[in-house]
Amino acid sequence: MCGIVAYIGSKNATDILIEGLTRLEYRGYDSAGIAVIINNKIEVFRSVGKLLNLKNIISEKKPVSNIGIGHTRWATHGKPSYENAHPHSSFGISLVHNGIIENYLDIKRNLADKGYKFESETDTEVIAHLIHSNYKDDIFEAVKVSVKQIKGSFALAVISVNEPDKIILARHDSPLVIGISDGENFAASDIPALISYTNKFIFLEENDIAVLTKDSVTCFDFEGKKTDREIKIVDINPVMAEKAGYRHFMQKEIYEQPRAIIDTIRGKYSLEEGMVLLPELQNISIENFKRFNIVACGTSWHAGLIGKFYIEKYAKIPVEVDIASEYRYRDNIIDKNTLFIAISQSGETADTIAALRIAKKKGASILSICNVIGSTITRESDATFYTHAGPEIGVASTKAFTTQVVALFMLAIYFGQRKGDLSCEKVKEMLSELLKLPELIEHVLKLDEKIENIARNFKDFSSFLYLGRNVNYPVALEGALKLKEISYIHAEGYPAGEMKHGPIALIDKNMPVFVIATDSKVYDKVLANIQEVKARDGIVIATVTEGNNEVEKFTEFCIKLPEISEELSVFLNSIVVQLLAYHIAAELGLDVDQPRNLAKSVTVE
Ligand code: AGP
Repeated sequence: MCGIVAYIGSKNATDILIEGLTRLEYRGYDSAGIAVIINNKIEVFRSVGKLLNLKNIISEKKPVSNIGIGHTRWATHGKPSYENAHPHSSFGISLVHNGIIENYLDIKRNLADKGYKFESETDTEVIAHLIHSNYKDDIFEAVKVSVKQIKGSFALAVISVNEPDKIILARHDSPLVIGISDGENFAASDIPALISYTNKFIFLEENDIAVLTKDSVTCFDFEGKKTDREIKIVDINPVMAEKAGYRHFMQKEIYEQPRAIIDTIRGKYSLEEGMVLLPELQNISIENFKRFNIVACGTSWHAGLIGKFYIEKYAKIPVEVDIASEYRYRDNIIDKNTLFIAISQSGETADTIAALRIAKKKGASILSICNVIGSTITRESDATFYTHAGPEIGVASTKAFTTQVVALFMLAIYFGQRKGDLSCEKVKEMLSELLKLPELIEHVLKLDEKIENIARNFKDFSSFLYLGRNVNYPVALEGALKLKEISYIHAEGYPAGEMKHGPIALIDKNMPVFVIATDSKVYDKVLANIQEVKARDGIVIATVTEGNNEVEKFTEFCIKLPEISEELSVFLNSIVVQLLAYHIAAELGLDVDQPRNLAKSVTVE
């Protein structure tokens, strides 16, 4: 999720671009750059790492211009580097891009055949050369032709040295907003970048192209037909704006999960063929592996526990799941027949890195699932399945977790189909259900107010139990961790079947028990566990599948979720436990995004 800013007017574009990028830094910051037109030439300034590095370059060079584009990058294709930093250019045309282009390799091959040379690994540079290849002295026309040739998500801001009086914008599946003022106009991925300059905005809609001059904004559709877009007045404070109106980043990131899942699976499957397509894994020779070792920490370890269910069910390969800090000090049996899978949002967790290095030294192949391109874990892996959750600012992991689980589901299908255990028909069926997931999650997010009300009733308890079975047992663990880490209330996740082996002694009216009771092959066993808790004056909050009217007889609160397979019910149950933890912590007035004692990435032992 990168940040784009664009300006045309009478002020110095450089100042406005840098200020705007600063306001968007939360969207990603592994590299940044601006392009401005000075004396009929496009000057590009780029840097790797924090935005401060770009600011230092700018304060030295002091470029002055009335038109420019800027970008702060969260890498999706190509590691963070100077070459991969935006803006990207092609013979007098420069652009910045937020999104993921699915068919960029095909386009790149065609352009290379035409003689184009590429400096970067990015999909964005491909768009720049594509626009140049379509350019016939009209940058608007060139962009209009090009956007119909690219598949995937994009928000673009494009300038041409031959037409220094305009900026072309285009959006498809990636946000872009125009800021309007007198004698100047702006564009950005998000309004925080612009609210210092105006409160008048046009929110571009799907498949809009816009032409910005300093005195006008004209919108078109991709066919070139003019469209009317309403100018909206938005008065919002900058901090609230960064969170897009949410109270906390964690809340925003919970709500971003439908989009994050769509971005993570984008381009990785063919529904008509019934295939998961992971070319980045083709050099992993699955045939050698007798077992998988999934190793991670915290929430990522919970994702790994779910992955075990998926891989053993669909790929019929034995999977062990370990906590990295334990794995690294054990005398593990690892050899070349082991596939070691490291799961890490940050790619910088010290224990997981150490475990990976041990496995590698003993001959294992290394696959990682990670949300940060170019991070240590990805650099030391033989292959990486990147999640595209975008930057996760809240310390409590939410969208990273669900996109890790999506990655594991896709990997299980991929390995199963490579082993011949999954027919195309079966894969089609599984993919069809997976593609419904974002919409079902949106449905669960509509229960937010109900969950907020439950949180108000339970915020003062001092200890919780979370119970789940089978593939939802790790969600019970995740729910307990979410509550612990942001509300400081003790909570324990447990396999529901284990109640009789000790924890049931804890049950009384002071111990709320959250039970995951959505439809599953073990539903009857879970129902019995709920009745055991109720029989001991326990307080039960449960999730069930819509249409289930028997559980609510035994619960204080019963949350009804849309019908879905047991395997994918983990996503819907995860949204509920995330929202419950979030609202309890918010009700307690705690620092939800930066809880005490915690860091977003544990880079030390
Ligand atoms: C989860 O909410 C926590 N922030 C923490 O458990 C986290 O999952 C763990 O530290 C692992 O981090 P990683 O995914 O970046 O490796």
